[in-house]
Amino acid sequence: MTQILRINRDNYQEDELLPAVKVLKMGGLVAFPTETVYGLGANALDATAATKIYAAKGRPSDNPLIVHINSPEDIKDLAEEIPDAAWQLAKHFWPGPLTMVLKKQDKIPSETCGGLETVGIRCPEDKIARDLIRISGVYIAAPSANLSGKPSPTMAEHVIHDMDGRIDMIIDGGGATLGLESTIIDLTCNPPMLLRPGFITLSMLQNVIGDVKVDPVVTTRKPDPSLKPKAPGMKYRHYAPEGNLTIVEGEEDKVIQKINNLMQTEVSLGKQVGVITTSEHQNAYKVGKVFVIGDREHEESIASHLFAILRELDVEHIDVIYAESFLDMELGQAIMNRLLKAAGYHVIQAEE
Ligand code: TXA
Ligand code: MG
Repeated sequence: MTQILRINRDNYQEDELLPAVKVLKMGGLVAFPTETVYGLGANALDATAATKIYAAKGRPSDNPLIVHINSPEDIKDLAEEIPDAAWQLAKHFWPGPLTMVLKKQDKIPSETCGGLETVGIRCPEDKIARDLIRISGVYIAAPSANLSGKPSPTMAEHVIHDMDGRIDMIIDGGGATLGLESTIIDLTCNPPMLLRPGFITLSMLQNVIGDVKVDPVVTTRKPDPSLKPKAPGMKYRHYAPEGNLTIVEGEEDKVIQKINNLMQTEVSLGKQVGVITTSEHQNAYKVGKVFVIGDREHEESIASHLFAILRELDVEHIDVIYAESFLDMELGQAIMNRLLKAAGYHVIQAEE
């Protein structure tokens, strides 16, 4: 039985979190909200508890978990050989949506880190997440609280859909505001390397610590088996809806025309079709179901709705989906990175 603990994030007493604290202390699994996406938490220093996370998600055992801390100083307790850059980044971006990969101390079991000698650490900003870590006194290992391969959950309903019956407790604290997982930077190499783009963009990192390289896996437009991502999770198929998703690139008008034509053809074949677009173009589509993901003026709105829309496509049983593409820079880099994975890197040009 999975217990649901409802917490009103704008008005709650700390002791309302005690049932979740108890589960964590006893080595159980608690899903909880963070500002990025919901996490599936367990005691990071308890190998047995960490192992349960992999089982609940169906996650490959070589894919390490992110360890969540309450105070930036906690990295001294978990990591070794901490470079100056880590403290600078912590000062600028913690608490917040940034994960730093550092050399791990022996006290972190290898199960937590997917067998690596390094550990990913994040100090989240979300109040419920912070309270949970602080009150329990537990460093919380937490991947996103979705079944492996599914879009990360941005609402408790998504977690309930994937995890009901598989974990001890779900804290329903409302929606995750940012909606994309944290930026990951590896500080064990020189220069540091961006492993996963997110709200903290490449240029924001470079402004603080100077030179930062980008893992080629992040920028690739084709799945390339010879590229071995440094974040093991980036190699797995992810976020894909059940229907066939294609990204259409090109000039605005041509993209709209192309998608309209393609949808018309699919509809005549009896398929359920849909388009992922923005508020600017929502009236431009003549057939198919229109999924408005946000507006181009406010890229954060696109980021915060992407995963929910990918899940909605399945709920609506859409067979064939076309998505407009987004500018591949700053926050757009994170959006396109997730969208490309969801589409299995299937991109066509409107002009073709
Ligand atoms: O925003 C987030 O980061 C959310 C919330 C819950 O904090 N968590 C999250 O975790 O997205 P997950 O497990 O879905 O993604 C973690 C990614 C994976 O791609 C994993 O391979 C990578 O981080 N990672 C974790 N530890 C690592 C390490 N030591 N070295 C390289 N990559 C690591
Ligand atoms: Mg994940």
